[in-house]
Parts: sequence; structure tokens; C-alpha cells
Amino acid sequence: MERKEFLKSTLGLCGLSVLPAAFLQSCTKSAAATPTPTTFTIDISTSSYSALQTVGNSVVANGVLIIRKTSAAFEAFSSYCTHEGCTVHFDSSSPYIYCPCHGGMFNPTTGAVVSGPPPTALTKYTATLSGNNLTITP
Ligand code: FES
Repeated sequence: MERKEFLKSTLGLCGLSVLPAAFLQSCTKSAAATPTPTTFTIDISTSSYSALQTVGNSVVANGVLIIRKTSAAFEAFSSYCTHEGCTVHFDSSSPYIYCPCHGGMFNPTTGAVVSGPPPTALTKYTATLSGNNLTITP
């Protein structure tokens, strides 16, 4: 068997057995699965989270987007976009939480979809401040 014939028959067999599975995997699209959250606490006096000492700022910690709304109130949402799982962001210069991947926008108080392709709201968590310790609870 010549090299050309060998490659043709080998690739043909591999193509029949491997390509359909690869196509099925790459073509499957659905709402992003988000990791199961657990309760955690961060110290907002540490450098990693000190942005939260200023109203309007936000950080992402353990897959949760945390926004300081007022001196005493925080909002917390899953940071995983419900479209395809990109990390969402909040910037106080914008009225919305946004996703940089496909332009999804979410309400920063409720997590509801405002515009774009995300199929569902961001999961909302409870944020409770005690001293410098901010506890996020699913
Ligand atoms: S992954 Fe967020 S809009 Fe597509």
C-alpha cells in the first residue's frame, strides 16, 4: 500500500469514529453551569479586598462579584455569566454589571438580565459585614 492510500484509508476511518464526537462536543451550547457556592468570609482591610472600603467599588472573590453599594450595604452575585460562563464585572461608571464576552448586562441590585444573550439572572448571595469581615452566604 502506498503512503497516500494508507493515509486516505486511515484518516477516513478515524474521521468516521472521532469527528462526530468532536463535533457534538464543540457544537453543544447551553447556559453556563456555575460552581456550587459555599459560605466564605473575606477581610476587607487586606490589600486583596481593600477596594471594598470605597462605595461603588467591587471585587471578585471565590467566584462571587461583590459590590459596595453604600457604607453599610453590599450586593453579591455569582461572577459567572449565565450565558457561557465568562467573569462579569462592575464599574461604578456604568449602571450595570457587564459581561465582556458578548455584552450581557445585569441589574446590579437584583442580578436580572438587562440586555444581551444571558438566559437567566445572576445568582444573588447575601453579604453581611461585621467589622472588617464580610461574609458571603449562598
Ligand atoms: S458569556 Fe456573558 S454574554 Fe456571553
